Amino acid sequence: MIPQETINELLEQTNIVDFIGQYVQLTKRGKNYLGLCPYHEEKTPSFSVNEEKQLFHCFSCQRGGTVFSFLQYLENLSFPDAVIEVAKKTNFALPNSVTNAPSQDSPTFALRKMYAATKDFFAHILVNTKTGENALKYLEERQLSDAIVEQFEIGYAPNNRDVLLKYLQQQNYSNEQLLESGLFVQSKTGELFDRFRDRVMFPVKNATGQTVGFSGRKLSATNDEPKYLNSPETKLFNKSELLFNLDQAKTHLKDEQHLILFEGFMDVISAYQAGVQSGIASMGTSLTDEQIYLIRRLTNKVLINYDGDEPGQKATIRAINLFQKKAPQVQLGIISLPNQMDPDEFIKANGALKYQAEVNGAVTDLQFELDMLEKKYNLNNDREKIAYSKDALMAIAKLDSQSARDVYLNKVAQQTGISLAALNADLLGATRKIKQVARNTQNLYPDKKVLPRPENTPALTITSKSDRAQARLLYLALHYAEVDLRLIAEEFVFPNENFEKIFDLWHNYKSTHEDIIITAFLDTLTNELQSIVITLEMIDQPTNYVDEEIFDAIQVISENFQTDQLQLLNNDLVDARRKNDQELIREITSKIIKIRRLLDK
Ligand code: UTP
Ligand code: MN
Repeated sequence: MIPQETINELLEQTNIVDFIGQYVQLTKRGKNYLGLCPYHEEKTPSFSVNEEKQLFHCFSCQRGGTVFSFLQYLENLSFPDAVIEVAKKTNFALPNSVTNAPSQDSPTFALRKMYAATKDFFAHILVNTKTGENALKYLEERQLSDAIVEQFEIGYAPNNRDVLLKYLQQQNYSNEQLLESGLFVQSKTGELFDRFRDRVMFPVKNATGQTVGFSGRKLSATNDEPKYLNSPETKLFNKSELLFNLDQAKTHLKDEQHLILFEGFMDVISAYQAGVQSGIASMGTSLTDEQIYLIRRLTNKVLINYDGDEPGQKATIRAINLFQKKAPQVQLGIISLPNQMDPDEFIKANGALKYQAEVNGAVTDLQFELDMLEKKYNLNNDREKIAYSKDALMAIAKLDSQSARDVYLNKVAQQTGISLAALNADLLGATRKIKQVARNTQNLYPDKKVLPRPENTPALTITSKSDRAQARLLYLALHYAEVDLRLIAEEFVFPNENFEKIFDLWHNYKSTHEDIIITAFLDTLTNELQSIVITLEMIDQPTNYVDEEIFDAIQVISENFQTDQLQLLNNDLVDARRKNDQELIREITSKIIKIRRLLDK
């Protein structure tokens, strides 16, 4: 249990806009900050964050809440784990009793704890033991500084069949958990063995910096084992959704303004050491849609720095196309390194400053496409020159901006000697063709990946006058103690069951807590009730009130309630008459009269 005081303090010192801003690119619109919802695929933002209230809400999937719920949904964490994570991210010192008593209720908790222990174990072996000497020497030869080894928490898995197994068994992990971790292989007889042996170990972390898997590099080029061995897919290690170093890279977004995409994670590490610290890489697979979505939520500017060899250049073209299709708002910059070098090799050969200059000299995606085309054709030959201009125009036709089109059209005119007038005329045809292709392929690959709504969280539906009055009254009761007191004094009951539940829980909360913070209250509610309160908080309504309003609202609600009751009683009366139950008829009639009198008043 984390003390409520601690939770409140943490809530008070955390700004939800800054916090969520690390995960979602937010733009200020009026009172709220808007962005693309991180919980499902969408093209127009329905995710909003309210700084004043310190709440977020997605109008599309209805998820909402405090910074804690934000992380709970994102990382599938329990509430206490989310509190611990938020504290870590905001450098808030939690009492020792909290940090040392890990909660067990998150389904992946044991795995994450095991990976953290494994990471530290391997790092210890690399840095502090004789067994690690060789690997340390290897890293030195690769010119990685001690600081970088520490920063990336690099380690070494010894050439041994079960050191890690024994280490983790001592910490009482069950066989099932060990198997699930992907850190071991199982023999036919069911025995477990360490998967990673004699490898330099690179922890792979998720966007919040938790280790979720590993990649191990072999030390020598001799045998035929793969150069890099990755964790297999597990509950936490999904290669298609992970980007190496995203956790650190996104903290540099404020100064560097972009993310840089690399092919290999050694490139990320080398570039980091060379002062270029916003690098990320996929884990040996080509770029996926999910990764693009992840990136475009964070930034509108991406540099691509794949290897300078042919496969690297091909992969660049593929990445450009994917970004243009899935994230057209993202501005691309392409860095192509000379002599078929990968960034790691370039930095080693030319130094950090030369590399930084290459990064600063990134060209636009269109320029890169034109450069690639130019290499393909011999412009001294008329036939090839015409073919080149045709391909080039197809590339230029993808641009929306007239000025951008002009810039590249001029370049092509200069290169080929073809007149601007002729190129412009052909560009029209190319544009038409592009549009047609776009139309034909439109819905072939719908990229919707909507997460299901959290269970039991229907949107708050306000259909009647009474609903509206109840919503308003509940909002005011939550915000103004005097309104709350007045409702209690009048023994007011919300006809809407969920509202009544919230009202009840609110009193319960107030009587058991010293500091009354509405966001903290929110965290104690079920998803369904949470969603209702958030909707109340996020809909546009005056924050202050006048007394008559309360009176009117109560009036509307009770009239509606009585009318509904009357309807029910009339039905009962018909029933009683049919049965000729005189006593029941009398009873119902007297109730009806009472309500009629009330309504006539
Ligand atoms: P590279 O072979 O280009 O990596 O593979 P690199 O960065 O140049 O590695 P070094 O410098 O030789 O150590 C690029 C990426 O492909 C994946 C890894 O994620 C690597 O970062 N890969 C490569 C594997 O998963 N397995 C392999 O056997 C090789
Ligand atoms: Mn390399």
